[in-house]
Amino acid sequence: MQPPLSYGDGGHGNGGNEAMKVETGKPRLLFTPGPLTTSVSVKEAMLRDLGSLDSDFLATVRSVRSRLLALGPYSPEEFECVLMQGSGTFVVESVISSAIPRNGKLLALVNGAYGRRIAQTARIHGIALDVLEVPENTRFTPALVRNRLASTEEVSHVAVVHCETTSGMLNDVEGIGPVVHGAGAAYIVDAMSSFGAVPIDMAGAHIAFLISSANKCIEGVPGFGFVLANRRALESARGNARTLSLDLYDQWASMEADKGHFRFTPPIHTILAFEQALNELDEEGGVRARGERYRRNHVALCRGMRELGFEIYLDEEDQSFVITSFRYPTHPAFEFAEFYERLWRLGFVIYPGKLSRESCFRIGTIGRIFVADIEALLVAIRRVLLEMGIDLTGAAGARHDLLPVDDPGGSE
Ligand SMILES: Cc1ncc(COP(=O)(O)O)c(C=O)c1O
Repeated sequence: MQPPLSYGDGGHGNGGNEAMKVETGKPRLLFTPGPLTTSVSVKEAMLRDLGSLDSDFLATVRSVRSRLLALGPYSPEEFECVLMQGSGTFVVESVISSAIPRNGKLLALVNGAYGRRIAQTARIHGIALDVLEVPENTRFTPALVRNRLASTEEVSHVAVVHCETTSGMLNDVEGIGPVVHGAGAAYIVDAMSSFGAVPIDMAGAHIAFLISSANKCIEGVPGFGFVLANRRALESARGNARTLSLDLYDQWASMEADKGHFRFTPPIHTILAFEQALNELDEEGGVRARGERYRRNHVALCRGMRELGFEIYLDEEDQSFVITSFRYPTHPAFEFAEFYERLWRLGFVIYPGKLSRESCFRIGTIGRIFVADIEALLVAIRRVLLEMGIDLTGAAGARHDLLPVDDPGGSE
């Protein structure tokens, strides 16, 4: 095992183990929308087998549920926390297919792939649907939603994505909430890639269901997600479910009952890792401190990428610090697959784009990564551009001043 990081990560470094290392001798780092780079101590928390009814495990489930509410903090009198097996999409599907009654109608706000996925989920379950779609570089505002609600009949629920990870856009969830509430609808927020690093006022925004997952800003490993729900909204989901396994009300009722266990096999190791991830979030100083680290990562990334000649897709005021989309350079030698592959070989995993009309790639700044890791990534990108014969800065000739140091690896 590697020694802890030396640059102030509280001893929970992303140092990794022998099997994770690339040629540089460093662990591979994920600059993606998730799953993310996690600390060694989070991974180590999984080295224990427990049964589904083990009292230690049930105590962990109780603790994780109440600690998630405390992050808001969301009052336990008003809000509940339900854990659900599966990736983030399963949890979104659980909410959509459980919250909306047979005679309900969903307005889905779409400015990216994850909003589109919510609409698709409603269609699959035969839920009455209205879609308000705007371009992927346009932020949802209260006015946009107010206008649509005024011209649409009988919407019972409105769903929006907080950080639309497709682009990196941060929608105005808190501004839209009172508009939804004023129209008498229940508000569903997919906060998958923002919860844990961007404070969200659930009560003030009248959010009925807020959804996130273990392997995003809390820095756990994949395997389950969770719903923070207004208790009355959750109670009114009773009997609505269109599926057995994703019945949100039943899942909650089982967790609240006598033994408080999962209805079906729980992702035990993932939950053990998540408990450790919550410890590390507390040690870091909570949601604001975590968001501050990610913001520093994002600022360092954008500055460095601009210096290298890359163009950012979104306007700065719409952009989250979670993930950033960069336009493909027009340089004839740029080919994303090769760019990606070369970076991967050096131990840096970036992500393809997901926009429907623009050619972009994405770099995430969340997970157990620090500014020093971003700087290492930027050195690697410089090196790869040189190797590919690409100079985006407009300067004449090769930029030998940008030649990398021998080892561009990440943290240690
Ligand atoms: C905003 C948002 N919603 C939903 C999802 C889907 O989550 P998963 O890929 O874990 O199913 C993601 C994944 O990145 C996301 O960013």
